[in-house]
Amino acid sequence: MALDKLLTPVKLGKIELKNRVWMAPLTRSRAGQPGDVPTALNAAYYAQRAGAGLIVSEATQISRQGQGYAWTPGIYTDAQEAGWKQVVDAVHAAGGKMSLQLWHVGRISHHLLQEGGAAPVGPSAIRAADSQSFVVLPDGTPSNEPTDVPRALAKEELPALVQAYADAARRAVRAGFDMVEVHAANGYLLNQFLDIRANQRGDEYGGSIENRARLVLEVVDAIVAAIGAERVGIRLSPNGVFNDMTIEGSEATALHLVSEVNARRLAYVHIAEAGWSGGKALSDKYRAQLRATFDGALVFCGGYDAEMAEGLIASGIADAVAFGRPFIANPDLVTRFAKNAALNEPDAATFYGGAEKGYTDYPTL
Ligand SMILES: Cc1cc2nc3c(=O)[nH]c(=O)nc-3n(C[C@H](O)[C@H](O)[C@H](O)COP(=O)(O)O)c2cc1C
Repeated sequence: MALDKLLTPVKLGKIELKNRVWMAPLTRSRAGQPGDVPTALNAAYYAQRAGAGLIVSEATQISRQGQGYAWTPGIYTDAQEAGWKQVVDAVHAAGGKMSLQLWHVGRISHHLLQEGGAAPVGPSAIRAADSQSFVVLPDGTPSNEPTDVPRALAKEELPALVQAYADAARRAVRAGFDMVEVHAANGYLLNQFLDIRANQRGDEYGGSIENRARLVLEVVDAIVAAIGAERVGIRLSPNGVFNDMTIEGSEATALHLVSEVNARRLAYVHIAEAGWSGGKALSDKYRAQLRATFDGALVFCGGYDAEMAEGLIASGIADAVAFGRPFIANPDLVTRFAKNAALNEPDAATFYGGAEKGYTDYPTL
């Protein structure tokens, strides 16, 4: 199949991307220690993948409180900002463009990761069932641990939280990122506010769709005010169940948000389709509803191959498709697509943590 659409340029905000093959955000847990600072190795990994139309970075915590796994990078200290600058410079030098995924894990955390051993925070004091945080135990052993019961965020704390997102977005732009992506997917803090079970608040941040979406839109508005809507995207995961999210109500909530961010002229909406982590597949009808609701770049991700992606773009539903695991194993994924070449298989044992092995040593053609 000729990839007449997938390999053509597309406009995103004020920039042009050379193709419609995006690299999905992928946590790899290899930030420099101490301080969760991006390193030269991280820069080499991303630069190898600069053939993507847009690289979305691994999820990056906006604060210490927003961290749920050891060794993930942050964007709230000067050292982290400088670390990211070397990454973005390397990607730009290799001809790529890059978005930073802004992350607060909310209740998907553990007191060992929090300042002073505090409880993690969430919309309500409800623990995520069957969900894990990754910590280094006091004796130095890395371990997956059940997440803690969170402390419900007080309404008075929300303005500072919103500001932390805006500060992180400003740092991202200073580091040279072309875009930022608000992570409102996969069961983390903003998704927890959207969810009908995780969010049991009685104030104007809980209850109706409008109320559950309020914090996400306040975060979006603050980031837009800081760096401009043309530099902002958002990731949503309707029908996802990862980290104890609820299918019921999630499609309607996501559609409401997409309509709201359309009014704000956001550059892109990135839909993380369920499937890789359980959940329910999206219907063609729902994908078409998302398309009808959003005028900017609409991107889907999850279980796609080149032909499926070409089909979705050719049908007018998607402007681009993001690839996760295929990009872990194939730094030259776009070249392989263009040549219809075989793909390397990803090794799940080296997804998280470690060094070069399974990170920068996958062969190109
Ligand atoms: C190792 C790994 C790490 C991931 N990290 C993130 C992340 O940091 N942020 C995010 O939104 N999604 C994350 N995801 C989900 C991917 O972005 C993507 O939605 C998923 O892999 C499905 O796409 P694929 O079938 O092309 O791999 C991760 C997935 C994997 C396998």
